[in-house]
Amino acid sequence: MTTQTYRVRMGVVALLATMGSTVALAQPPFMRNMYTGPVVLPQVDPRAPVEDTIGLDDDWQRDRIESQNLPNPVPNTPETRAQGEQMYDVYCAVCHGATGQGDGRIAEHFTRMPNLALPYIQDYTDGWIYAIIREGGRSMPPFAHSMNVPERWALVHYVKTFEVASIQ
Ligand code: HEC
Repeated sequence: MTTQTYRVRMGVVALLATMGSTVALAQPPFMRNMYTGPVVLPQVDPRAPVEDTIGLDDDWQRDRIESQNLPNPVPNTPETRAQGEQMYDVYCAVCHGATGQGDGRIAEHFTRMPNLALPYIQDYTDGWIYAIIREGGRSMPPFAHSMNVPERWALVHYVKTFEVASIQ
């Protein structure tokens, strides 16, 4: 290879390399690559969550024991209990029954369907019930994705209104 040819080849390589990086930075919008794509780039704030979506709150990492002394941040009022009742009717009644007696429509398919009015459950702390709602149990599904945080706490207030229907 003559020195002349070598120079020309290196010149072409340098030109291509420059063109490559220019294309990456100044791309028309219909051309996507990993640099211009809708990815989160390093050193950049994360994208804001889509409006009206339920975020995973920080509490997710806590278990029942760590959650048991969490204070209920939602005031216990007729309005919040009504909101809790709405949540209960949608998500819980099918298993635990309309008035919490463990007699929901699909309760018979479970080996144990707790009666939420029993004193041992009524004695649970708000944080403990909150954690059960959030994470579910062995057969009970978790509801962290179905309700936002205030809705779950409102539901705790409503669960605490259950009374045993009759002692046989
Ligand atoms: C698919 C049926 C099902 C649904 C829906 C369900 N649960 Fe449960 N739940 C259970 C079962 C079964 C248990 C017993 C523990 C286990 O096996 O997970 C339980 C346990 C519980 C306990 C603890 C009882 C104990 O003995 O310590 C509470 C409190 C509770 N559920 C509340 C709720 C609330 C509030 C909702 C609505 C958000 C709900 N559950 C929805 C099936 C269900």
